Amino acid sequence: MEEHLTVGRVAELAGVSVRTLHHYDEIGLAQPSARTAAGYRAYSASDVERLREVLAFRRLGFGLREIADLVDDPHTDAVARLHRLRGLLLDQRDRAAAMVTAIDRELEARAMGARTTSEERLQPFGAQLYENIGSAYPATRRTEPRIAAQVWRALGDARTVLNVGAGTGSYEPPDRDVIAVEPSAVMRAQRPEGSAPCVAAAAERLPFPDQSFDAAMAFSTVHHWRDPIAGLREMRRVARRVVVFTHDATDAGWRDRFWLSRDYLPEVGHLVAGRPSVDQLARAFGARLEPVLIPWDCADGFFEAYWRRPEAYLEEHVRRAISVWTRVGPEAERRAVAALREDLASGRWAERNRHLVDLDAAELGLRLLVA
Ligand SMILES: C[S@@+](CC[C@H](N)C(=O)[O-])C[C@H]1O[C@@H](n2cnc3c(N)ncnc32)[C@H](O)[C@@H]1O
Repeated sequence: MEEHLTVGRVAELAGVSVRTLHHYDEIGLAQPSARTAAGYRAYSASDVERLREVLAFRRLGFGLREIADLVDDPHTDAVARLHRLRGLLLDQRDRAAAMVTAIDRELEARAMGARTTSEERLQPFGAQLYENIGSAYPATRRTEPRIAAQVWRALGDARTVLNVGAGTGSYEPPDRDVIAVEPSAVMRAQRPEGSAPCVAAAAERLPFPDQSFDAAMAFSTVHHWRDPIAGLREMRRVARRVVVFTHDATDAGWRDRFWLSRDYLPEVGHLVAGRPSVDQLARAFGARLEPVLIPWDCADGFFEAYWRRPEAYLEEHVRRAISVWTRVGPEAERRAVAALREDLASGRWAERNRHLVDLDAAELGLRLLVA
């Protein structure tokens, strides 16, 4: 027989008040649909499943109306929602860890009679990654014309284009009306003279009315978003066409395909764990997938760009413009670079990757999502 839990018992187990549960019941957010043998209203297993989601989103700071949209979304199932919740919770954990580190640093500094700067105190609260690494970006990150052509083709005849997570604007089409969105002040400050106007905002909350643009694009940024599914839905809301360049974060699709992550830096697996797969992302806004091949002499120095030029990864300025290297931490970075250096010197890399030498372009799990 299916187990039913009374309202009082659920309140006790979940650590919320009975009043809160009654409120969720009244507004239709999470209702006890069953009855106990004694005739009291009770939560069935599926009521508890829904309530658990509601409570978790609430704890993450979502408003009740937003939560209602999330749990009633007809495009996602329970597993997809759990993945999303997991990703959001991991993100919260990482932010909390960053704040703990910053506080530890300040305590240490105070103990030694030194003071931290105001900037250092505020950094852990903001969009810290690109505030920290953004200034190294322009050294190697620029438009790769062959990939840009594929993106611009996918934009079709769009005249007005929103570029989300625009960074320095490498993939903004020069012949259309572009508005950029970029949360990092460091990245905004590095946009070249004369580039498209740039709004300080994040993908998850785009400050534009519905259907404001012919198309919205996002290049190599979705994996940084706190809530990628929410951001993609926002793009869908503000534009008729959506084009997204990202990677397939599953093992088979991405991590295991590329010798760098497979043989030297398996830690990238931890970075993508719990993130939505490329299929889940595509489903969230009804997109089709197009593979994007990486030319052997790719001009834009992103993570996979140097697949046939392995010596490039030994260069500090190349690594500093690729967020993965900062995100895996200095220890993993040192180990991976030392191992690669050794394998290049001994000929082991060349022997293992002989099949790459004659390729002009590689399929490493990069995808264009077009809807
Ligand atoms: C790898 S860079 C890509 C920049 C640019 N699209 C390009 O291809 O050169 C990732 C960018 O995403 C931005 N970003 C991070 N979180 C974001 C969010 N929630 N919404 C929009 N952009 C975000 C970062 O600040 C950074 O500029």
